Amino acid sequence: VRALVDTFGCQQNVADSQHIMGMLEAMGCEFVTEPTQADIIVLNTCAIREHAEQRAFGNLGALTHTKRRHPEQKIFLCGCMAGETKVSDRVKHSYPHVDGVFSTHHLWQFPQILWNVLSGKKRQFFIEDEPGSIAEGIPQVRDSKLKAWVSIMYGCNNFCTYCIVPYVRGREKSRRPKEILQEIEKLADDGVVEIMLLGQNVNSYGKNLEDEISFAQLLQEVEKIDKIKRIRFMTSHPKDLSDELIEVMKNSDKICRHLHLPLQSGSTKILKAMNRRYTKEQYLELAAKIRREIPDISLTTDIMVGFPGETAEDVDDTIDVIRKVGFDNAFTFIYSVRTGTPAAAMDQVPEEEVHAGFDRVLEAVQETARKQVARLQGQTLTALVEEVNEQDASLVTGRLSNNTIVHFPGSADLIGQIVPVKLEECHGFYYTGHRVEETK
Ligand code: 5AD
Ligand code: SF4
Repeated sequence: VRALVDTFGCQQNVADSQHIMGMLEAMGCEFVTEPTQADIIVLNTCAIREHAEQRAFGNLGALTHTKRRHPEQKIFLCGCMAGETKVSDRVKHSYPHVDGVFSTHHLWQFPQILWNVLSGKKRQFFIEDEPGSIAEGIPQVRDSKLKAWVSIMYGCNNFCTYCIVPYVRGREKSRRPKEILQEIEKLADDGVVEIMLLGQNVNSYGKNLEDEISFAQLLQEVEKIDKIKRIRFMTSHPKDLSDELIEVMKNSDKICRHLHLPLQSGSTKILKAMNRRYTKEQYLELAAKIRREIPDISLTTDIMVGFPGETAEDVDDTIDVIRKVGFDNAFTFIYSVRTGTPAAAMDQVPEEEVHAGFDRVLEAVQETARKQVARLQGQTLTALVEEVNEQDASLVTGRLSNNTIVHFPGSADLIGQIVPVKLEECHGFYYTGHRVEETK
């Protein structure tokens, strides 16, 4: 049996898809990349912006043709869009070729859903919000030998007024530390050296557990696992980022010098309307404290332009924060109306104004990012060698602790090693350099 899992959206979805593939593999499936060759197709979707949904519906529509040629093909839609009733209704009525829809709460039931479909039962819709416990021990197919993603929590309780995540992924739930640490130990035994801990808001990890534990404490436990050399995590909410975390990061050799700290807007008025629960000044203070305590850290962010009520002055505030913090990189988004969120009912900003603001923000981001990357020129830093360079086989590609890429002469036997590299030339967003001897 041949299967295809097509993934849209964030790392959380990529990690979920690895579990869907793990279940398919355990059932004996092999994987293909062409929809025409697949017996089972799973679209793991993203609902964060309108554009992502349109793409998923486009792909879903195109599958009517493949299924016409392969009537035995089974098609499933899952992920964040599956958590929206407007989507499941539309699939029910307008996409009859789809055999099943299941939301993220029901991911672990995929074998049962598949069995129901294969044994001739009617179309399957597993879409109710399930507040229950977390399914553990689901197998996983990973795409990298060196790096692995580990979800430490699911859902979100913040209800930023633009965001659909709390509605489609439900309330915040933390995995028990024991399960997380066991999983990481197993990954380490399989040769994984870098772990990315995932959650919508990792800084509130552990708050709803029986034995309360902070995210910083969890990090310290992960750090004790010998064979793990690097630890990354995503995403941090500025309102919950503790001094304890800064302290733990500062004193750690393994926690990478990178913090993704979504700003969204630099205007206190807009932040309030977004329900972000921090002001411009609080964000600036936090960023300054982090840069002071951990000077070599790279700070990245998410910024949204065009939230209801945003004026050119609000955009000026955002640009002011971009310049003052000097982000190392930023993902910039145009606000997208999500049905059912509070912001959808607010007065929307005219499109031309949004685009003018977006262009200004993008320019500011590119300027600070360029400056930040260039500041590493001439330094010697350690890089984890990830692969042989795709364009030039005499080079290998490594990643610095702060996430910057460096290409340097070397061969495949370096893959998986952490080596010191002199950063000789900055090419915009990456470096070229040379490996240097270990300095004792
Ligand atoms: N429109 C545009 N961008 C959004 N994001 C979340 N919701 C929306 C929306 N409705 C952005 C935020 C978040 C990132 C993952 O996606 O910036 O941090
Ligand atoms: Fe959405 Fe805000 Fe939760 Fe992030 S913290 S997932 S932006 S509601």
